[in-house]
Amino acid sequence: MIVAGFLGSPRQGGNTEILLDAALAAAAGAGAEAEKIRLWALDFSGCIECEDCYATGVCTQEDEMEGVYELLERADRILVASPIFFMGLPAQAKAMIDRCQCYWAQKYLLEEDFPHQGSARRYGAFIGVGGTRGEKLYDGTILTLKYFFDAIAAEPLTNEYVLVRGVDDKGDIEDHAGALEAAASLGRLLAEKE
Ligand SMILES: Cc1cc2nc3c(=O)[nH]c(=O)nc-3n(C[C@H](O)[C@H](O)[C@H](O)COP(=O)(O)O)c2cc1C
Repeated sequence: MIVAGFLGSPRQGGNTEILLDAALAAAAGAGAEAEKIRLWALDFSGCIECEDCYATGVCTQEDEMEGVYELLERADRILVASPIFFMGLPAQAKAMIDRCQCYWAQKYLLEEDFPHQGSARRYGAFIGVGGTRGEKLYDGTILTLKYFFDAIAAEPLTNEYVLVRGVDDKGDIEDHAGALEAAASLGRLLAEKE
């Protein structure tokens, strides 16, 4: 069982990374193989809408998105963790999602199955962190994730994601025991759900 965590925050050791690490540690504690990709550390571009993948299902941009595709296809559980920037996902996380247009093309244009290398059911989950407490803080992001998980053939793990509000300064999440425990519970569930 491979649980893959994708860090959307560009802030090293920030609130999101602390929560993602808590989730992945709990998944590993529950017997899964946990892997993490820090998107900020990779050199890759957003989708350029060249439409090459519409004919082949394969992205023709050559950059470090290659390792992301490899893990997305190998993983059984996909966990995206990201802060909210301007009411949506930061560029790093959104660029990864946009580059998954090739999987959308595989599914909807070429009618191919997702090239999952494992045999377990695939689930997707999300951990979000925002500095404000706005009611609509996650509305756009939840929609984006819904369509992302659909394109990569990952069912939502639960009806609700871990959505943290009112956490802004680096490290402030440490004072939110509830958020750390919620992230750990999510990690365990990712590892254990059949
Ligand atoms: C460019 C930028 C845009 C942001 N936009 C929002 C926003 O729209 N809503 C919000 O609640 N917080 C916003 N924030 C605050 C972050 O979500 C918050 O600081 C969060 O804790 C960062 O998580 P991190 O430590 O993992 O990077 C923004 C922060 C930055 C740097």
